[in-house]
Amino acid sequence: MCGIVGYVGSRQAVPILIRGLRALEYRGYDSAGIAVGYNGTVDVRKRVGRIDALQELVDRRPVQGTAGIGHTRWATHGRPSDENAHPHTDCTSSFVVVHNGIIENYAELRDELKAQGHRFSSETDTEVVAHLLEAMYDGDLVSTVRRVAARLRGAYALAVMSNREPGKIVAVKQASPLIIGLGEGENFLASDIPALLPHTRRVIPLEEGEMAVLTREDVLLMRLDGTPVTREPMVVTWDPGEAERGGYAHFMLKEIHEQPRAVRDTLAGRINRAGDGVVLDSVRFDPEWVRNLKSVHLVACGTAYHAGLIGGRLIERLAGIPAWTELASEFRYRDPLVDERTLFVAISQSGETADTLAAMREARRRGARILAITNVVGSSVAREADDVVYTWAGPEIAVASTKAYTTQVVALALLAIHLAEITGHTGPLGRRNLIEALRQLPEAVEAALGLEDEMRAIGDLARDWHDAFFIGRGLDYFAALEGQLKLKEISYIHAEAYAAGELKHGTLALIEQGTPVVALVTQPDLREKMISNIEEVRARGAEVFAFARRDLTGIDRYARQAVKLPVVHPLLMPVVAAVPLQLLAYYAAVARGTDVDKPRNLAKSVTVE
Ligand code: M6R
Repeated sequence: MCGIVGYVGSRQAVPILIRGLRALEYRGYDSAGIAVGYNGTVDVRKRVGRIDALQELVDRRPVQGTAGIGHTRWATHGRPSDENAHPHTDCTSSFVVVHNGIIENYAELRDELKAQGHRFSSETDTEVVAHLLEAMYDGDLVSTVRRVAARLRGAYALAVMSNREPGKIVAVKQASPLIIGLGEGENFLASDIPALLPHTRRVIPLEEGEMAVLTREDVLLMRLDGTPVTREPMVVTWDPGEAERGGYAHFMLKEIHEQPRAVRDTLAGRINRAGDGVVLDSVRFDPEWVRNLKSVHLVACGTAYHAGLIGGRLIERLAGIPAWTELASEFRYRDPLVDERTLFVAISQSGETADTLAAMREARRRGARILAITNVVGSSVAREADDVVYTWAGPEIAVASTKAYTTQVVALALLAIHLAEITGHTGPLGRRNLIEALRQLPEAVEAALGLEDEMRAIGDLARDWHDAFFIGRGLDYFAALEGQLKLKEISYIHAEAYAAGELKHGTLALIEQGTPVVALVTQPDLREKMISNIEEVRARGAEVFAFARRDLTGIDRYARQAVKLPVVHPLLMPVVAAVPLQLLAYYAAVARGTDVDKPRNLAKSVTVE
């Protein structure tokens, strides 16, 4: 989704703003722009397309100044175009604004402003803010922004500058992320931390309904009602290199290879010394409440939803508590049976997904206790939850989620064991076995990366695929769902996942000579059933690529190719199976020449409904 950057200091703002925008490219965008203040004027440069187009414009028509704001836009109101790109200005070019999110009442505000004589030059909801600033300016930008914000409805973040008050940026956060970066004699603003890391590690994420006033010397925080806010900065420990590609052809490939480390970090400090219990410091359940739980309700979108499906199954199996996993976008539109006896688990890599946040708020309204599993410290999901289990995957830049997914499953396994410790449904021996398996998991993930050459070869074959089917049973069905999403999202090959037992209830009609079928066989108790399903599709001409746990023998003879997966506890096999499935999708996309890290029509962080 859109990205905001800001700078005020003594250096030239343009290179800092453009570098910041490049660090936010992963959020998805279709145009970019900057506004820079100099000698009582504010100059705007903006272009549809990639940041290179903006850079080219700035090279041709340079701007100077030591304070500025910038933006990458992902179109919501109005098509991608130069006119609709941010920043937007008022009629007098005195006020400039960049905006992330949606202003729901923009149409009525626009009518009102037009009636007053304001002239609009874009189709965006954002432009009303610039004209409101012009109309309501009272000689003080901060109080004007506050009064303008009171007129806006929706979820948004804003950064505003004016030539009337040079050297000042006023920012507002209302449901979309904004982070302040503190420097020496300079200060920064961004929608996400990677844009700040080249300059500072001292950051302050703004909370809902807060404003910040940035000048060269100072950052003032306040509530929208003017109440001053004091908050210590957090120190970010990420290595700036982590936010860059580090020698890999794509962020996605780098992130796939980071998984042994990411899984290890997510486990670090969360298994006790004796190896027979988990330690979740940030989770404070009343044991009696857990024993009386009616259900655990897990909610997420996309890949995180697939992790949730696995997590729900683990919680039922280990803790003996009924668990439901649901798409966040569906949750609000029924009458969910969620109350004080529900543990509500929201899973989100970014921690900013609008549907997931909305579901959390609905669950909160109904009295549930909310636990967040997220990868971003200080994200909205983390801040609004009662308990948080962070996945220590590090920044995930590629739109296709990889290391966030595997670490989400690990975090959910830890949660399931923690709940089982309280309910006692799985005894000490069963829990110890799984904890031991978790400890071995980073090595198994490393071993799964050894399948890369094999996946490159299958990926090359996939260049010519039109449709592919992914089948599995039990946890393998959930792993198949993730495998098919990865393939379609980056290679644009149509792919469907089916619970293998469902094939004969309809989908088998689509299997014909040469149809590729990826069959997952990692669960020992389901091996024979899966062999029957493989035979079913093979008899109709399917080309079967079986991804089987190495010790589940005899699969070779039924498949065109049998990929042998490292052996771990069956409940953790989805983590191991994910790695070659991600690599298959990656190499299929490379073979087809798609934009792997930024697939068409998709954004990394979906902050609108
Ligand atoms: O940041 P979140 O985990 O909340 O994002 C949820 C989905 O948008 C995300 O997992 C999406 O499905 C990925 N692009 C899949 O690779």
